[in-house]
Amino acid sequence: WQVVAIIPAAGSGRRMRTPGQPKTQKLLLPLAGKTILRRTLEALSLPEITAFFLPVAPEDQPFFAEELKAAGLGQEVIFCAGGPERQDSIANALAAVESWSGWRVPPEQRLVVIHDAARPLVETETIRLALAVAQETWAACVGVPVKDTIKVVGPDGVITQTPDRRTLWAAQTPQVFSWPLLRQAYAQAQAGGEKMTDDAALVERTGHPVRIVPGSYRNLKITTPEDIPAAAALLNAVEA
Ligand code: CTP
Ligand code: MG
Repeated sequence: WQVVAIIPAAGSGRRMRTPGQPKTQKLLLPLAGKTILRRTLEALSLPEITAFFLPVAPEDQPFFAEELKAAGLGQEVIFCAGGPERQDSIANALAAVESWSGWRVPPEQRLVVIHDAARPLVETETIRLALAVAQETWAACVGVPVKDTIKVVGPDGVITQTPDRRTLWAAQTPQVFSWPLLRQAYAQAQAGGEKMTDDAALVERTGHPVRIVPGSYRNLKITTPEDIPAAAALLNAVEA
């Protein structure tokens, strides 16, 4: 197997909402002394992952390049264009993965890890477990059982459904797929004009089973302002 990672980093952080600012580059915010971006890159920098593909907004590229230099990673890093939605950013990265000159194995021996730049607390064991499951099954999605009871709510604010909590998992990243399967899932989604918020959903639509891989509740996605102190507390508890 040869493994590469796509790390989508081209979002506009709307839910981080700094008042008066159109856009917050949340990935460059400090988290216990290092930027979120740098922590994510360092967490993913396992020897078995040979290259990082980063969809990034063009205006952010110089800042990201600085962070990459500071991190001093062993991986080759390829910047790609971001798109309007996360799925468009991944599609751009897939085009770069397709034409990458670093492949040394045939397509069916290639794995692609997709991991949100906004999840800096991902643990090595989680990444390795997802890789192992994907080598067996071609499609692995890290997730955790939901703690809250989930409600489906209509546009009028009235609850229409309460799914059985025992069947519900919150999907996280990393998600790991065999390259031919991921490419097929994206080709199908782009042709059908479907938009989804994670990559597993697109692979599910091909009919290929996607395995859930138990992850950890620590693997927060930094989304709203209160996630920063929560993540910092988790990091300090480990690093202290
Ligand atoms: N992302 C991306 N391209 C987009 C949208 C999101 O690469 N067009 C990336 C983000 O940078 C992030 C990951 O996808 O690392 C998960 O997205 P999310 O947490 O929703 O981040 P944002 O889209 O930046 O935040 P918001 O939805 O609050 O605007
Ligand atoms: Mg978003």
